[in-house]
Amino acid sequence: MHKGISVVFVAVLLGGGSLAQGADAGKSLYDRLGGQPAVEAVANGLVDRILADNRVNKWFAHAAASTENANQYKAKLATFICAGVGGPCKYTGLDMVSAHKGRAVTSEAFDAVAQDLVAQLDQLKVPAKEKHEVMEIIGSLKPSIVQSASTHK
Ligand code: HEM
Repeated sequence: MHKGISVVFVAVLLGGGSLAQGADAGKSLYDRLGGQPAVEAVANGLVDRILADNRVNKWFAHAAASTENANQYKAKLATFICAGVGGPCKYTGLDMVSAHKGRAVTSEAFDAVAQDLVAQLDQLKVPAKEKHEVMEIIGSLKPSIVQSASTHK
């Protein structure tokens, strides 16, 4: 009895004082974001933003050429994000180095896409904690995607 009470007490403390947060504790980032519908809303909205963003859309001529191409890119990105945030998807596309090889993606272009992603996460009202976790994962990919002379091995 005493033991039971103290376990709940510690759980509440670790959860930052909120039982709601405590209930989320063991969940994957995928689940906390809202599962597949949320991941697809992130990927679809991000691609729409990228295609409308004059800082970066010159890189995406292929995706912009048809709805079919855009949809293929959205689907690949959704699967990649799903797998990256601990979801059940199996990403079978190119690894990030191969996908961006020869595309001369600049640091500025990467940062612009990251800003588009933040705007999309904000639009979907993703809470700060989950938003930061997503951005940390994306940020960790920068050296693989920006393959400039200075960072090239
Ligand atoms: C921010 C993190 C990024 C992630 C997670 C990401 C992820 C991906 C993925 C999963 C693909 C598909 C790979 C395949 O075909 O198998 C892809 C393709 C591509 N990425 Fe990225 N990317 C990122 C940033 C960028 C940036 C900053 C640029 C350029 C400004 C860029 C340009 C492209 C282009 C042009 C393609 C081919 C799209 C097409 O199929 O038409 N990516 N990326």
